[in-house]
Amino acid sequence: MRLTEQVHQYIEKFLQSGDIAIDATTGNGHDTLFLAQCVGGMGKVFAFDVQQQALTSAQSHLQKHHIQTPVTWINTGHELMLESIPLALHGKVKAITFNLGYLPNADKRITTCPATTLTALNASISLLKYGGILSILAYTGHDGGREEAEAVKVWANTLNDGFDINITIPQNTKFSPPEWICIRKKRS
Ligand SMILES: C[S@@+](CC[C@H](N)C(=O)[O-])C[C@H]1O[C@@H](n2cnc3c(N)ncnc32)[C@H](O)[C@@H]1O
Repeated sequence: MRLTEQVHQYIEKFLQSGDIAIDATTGNGHDTLFLAQCVGGMGKVFAFDVQQQALTSAQSHLQKHHIQTPVTWINTGHELMLESIPLALHGKVKAITFNLGYLPNADKRITTCPATTLTALNASISLLKYGGILSILAYTGHDGGREEAEAVKVWANTLNDGFDINITIPQNTKFSPPEWICIRKKRS
């Protein structure tokens, strides 16, 4: 099974109808669609991307699937996540997904980078509700990808014992595999 499918299978167990979720790197909207399907029409999804081209592609992807979930499309960097999510929802978000790297078949120079990713991850920690999941898929095969994956793992290891951290690195693959860093905010 592909790692992206494994990630969805895992997150699906936590998300329920009516939950709030954030896609921090919308791209073509595969994770946005998945989150919207999990939280349903009573839920809410916020979708960030620095490229309008990505948000437009993701919107049409969700339309094709007749999604009823309210989605707020945010054409700004996820490093502004804290300011962009209504204060009333801070501490109430059940799942936040990051799929780092660049938009497939687009300008590869527009990619996530460690400084802004770490700012967004710190914001995510305070937006998450207890029991919520922060999932980061880090691709290591492109320029800067390995450094970003390492920066995320170093950051994850600085979290206190209020969090469970799991790092999955697929073995026996010829290519630079994506790595999955999954963080759960423990119940208080
Ligand atoms: C690997 S793609 C995401 C793929 C996506 N999850 C999907 O299902 O298609 C990474 C995306 O992150 C976006 N991105 C880069 N820097 C960003 C930032 N600072 N904030 C939000 N999105 C960013 C890129 O424009 C790109 O669309």
